[in-house]
Amino acid sequence: TRVLVLNGPNLGRLGSREPDVYGNQDLSALRVLLTDLAADGVEIDLRQTDDEGELIHWLHEAVDAQNDVILNPAAFTHYSYGLRDAAALVTKAGQKLVEVHISNPHAREEFRHRSVVSGIATGVIAGFGFDSYTLALRAIGAAA
Ligand code: DQA
Repeated sequence: TRVLVLNGPNLGRLGSREPDVYGNQDLSALRVLLTDLAADGVEIDLRQTDDEGELIHWLHEAVDAQNDVILNPAAFTHYSYGLRDAAALVTKAGQKLVEVHISNPHAREEFRHRSVVSGIATGVIAGFGFDSYTLALRAIGAAA
């Protein structure tokens, strides 16, 4: 089985982007962390895009391939109904979708307190750095 780990805008800059908030490791380190933790037979497919349409297409792909999804929608979290509707297709199809955040958006600016994705997610994990992703992998039962 394959788990899609999808990352939204500006997360390609991890490592140098606001290290006080997001730490100093980059997405390739995250890929190694998750790949090492994955159970036998679980393939980690980690991707990042700054493009809303591309992220939506990847969610459609998850529906068609019946993949569970770990999704960090980044800033799209707070306003993208198009992304929410695509994410809803995943959970309505019976697959798991875990919304993750590296930081705890509720402890930050007001505009980050609202997520338009959470209401259709299977669950939400936020505030644990890269461990938000490893906890999500455990939550979907794909960790070793
Ligand atoms: C984030 C939190 C969002 O508010 C922000 O726009 C991001 C990253 C996080 O992982 O903490 O880009 O999703």
